[in-house]
Amino acid sequence: MVETGGARAVARCDALGAAPYSELEQGLYRGYLTPAYHATVDLVGAWMVDAGMDVDLDAAANLHGRYEGEAAGAPALVIGSHLDSVRDGGCYDGPLGVMLGIECVAALNEQGRRLPFAIEVYGFGDEEGSRFPAAMLTSRAVAGTLDVDLGAIADAEGVSMEVALGSFKTDYDVVTAKTPTNTFSTRTYRAARRAPEDIVAYLEAHIEQGPALEAEGLALGTVTGIAAQLRYAATVRGMAGHAGTSSMPLRRDALAGAAEMVLAIEEIARADGSDLVATVGRLEAMPGAANVIPGEVRFTIDVRSGEAARRDRAAREILSRLEQIASKRGLVLDLARVHDLPASPCDPVLMDLLDAAMVEAGQPVRRLVSGAGHDAMVMASLCPTAMLFIRCKDGVSHNPAEHVEPADADAALRVMRGFIEKLGQKHLGDSFADRT
Ligand code: GLV
Ligand code: MN
Ligand code: MN
Repeated sequence: MVETGGARAVARCDALGAAPYSELEQGLYRGYLTPAYHATVDLVGAWMVDAGMDVDLDAAANLHGRYEGEAAGAPALVIGSHLDSVRDGGCYDGPLGVMLGIECVAALNEQGRRLPFAIEVYGFGDEEGSRFPAAMLTSRAVAGTLDVDLGAIADAEGVSMEVALGSFKTDYDVVTAKTPTNTFSTRTYRAARRAPEDIVAYLEAHIEQGPALEAEGLALGTVTGIAAQLRYAATVRGMAGHAGTSSMPLRRDALAGAAEMVLAIEEIARADGSDLVATVGRLEAMPGAANVIPGEVRFTIDVRSGEAARRDRAAREILSRLEQIASKRGLVLDLARVHDLPASPCDPVLMDLLDAAMVEAGQPVRRLVSGAGHDAMVMASLCPTAMLFIRCKDGVSHNPAEHVEPADADAALRVMRGFIEKLGQKHLGDSFADRT
């Protein structure tokens, strides 16, 4: 059987789902700038080279490939998604969009075709925020909206992002010097930040991470926009003490307080009754022993809604309830806002092009909003954006059970290629040339 581009894209994501492309013995965790990320960049970079691209890394360690257009140096259609994963995640959240971008270029390269614009493919390094306490750091570097002090944010081991980035680059130079010729040189790093005039548009294909398409028997959907997100890092301080000798009324138990806070957050989000969602996804109790009352707890809060005002209202209510709980229990609460992205509408002209490509590929047109965050919401400050959603089994994501059918990936590839052709017909002299 001849392998299709979609099937190859899925198989490549599968191949990246285990060591050395994962930090885990069992399952997938690929944090930004980890050895697993390094191995992934090497392999995906070599696939980009095979597809006919010039490949490099940028200063934020994003993997970047470029396929020139008819004229060298032309503005580019950027196709991208992320190569990092959540802890114990699935294989397709992120990498599938990168692999499908590579397949689009591979198909053009096989035909020896050049377009009125270049095509660039990005494998972004940090979208999930699974290593450092902030997210979408690397697309923000590309869009020029990175406002984080890299020396001030650190991973769970206390390694700052500045140090991690520095050692990744040093290590990278040493290792690539020994790699075979089908890979790429990274001795110089391209500047991460891109100018709006160099980019025509941004296209991201991604699994839906929800159940809507599957429920309707559809393989694909056109995304209309991405929900606004807000994240906080919370620290609750009480007093550690002996679990056997401290009487209940005298305790200042940080974990019991944090537990009440987690339930309050859930209650506020449930009561809203809209698309608003709030999640505590990570919680650590210190010192973490069976016979010690927890003295300190750290947890994350993630709040989202398609409507920024609703999200902000809920966040204010959450913060005020948390303060009340802390003061009632004699605890000290510190809250740091670590991530704040506005809702991001997709470009109407590009949505129409995607819909038209969908019709041409024999796919019913379906538009839907994204509750999950994507690099597209950051790239939107740089250029018009479009997103194509691909059905995933049972709507499951951020879970090892994540699954996508190769036939659906293939349908997505046909639509992406149709979209590129249509963009080529529209390009230059039309509305895109006038946009900033
Ligand atoms: C990314 O997966 C996000 O929506 O947090
Ligand atoms: Mn994700
Ligand atoms: Mn993702």
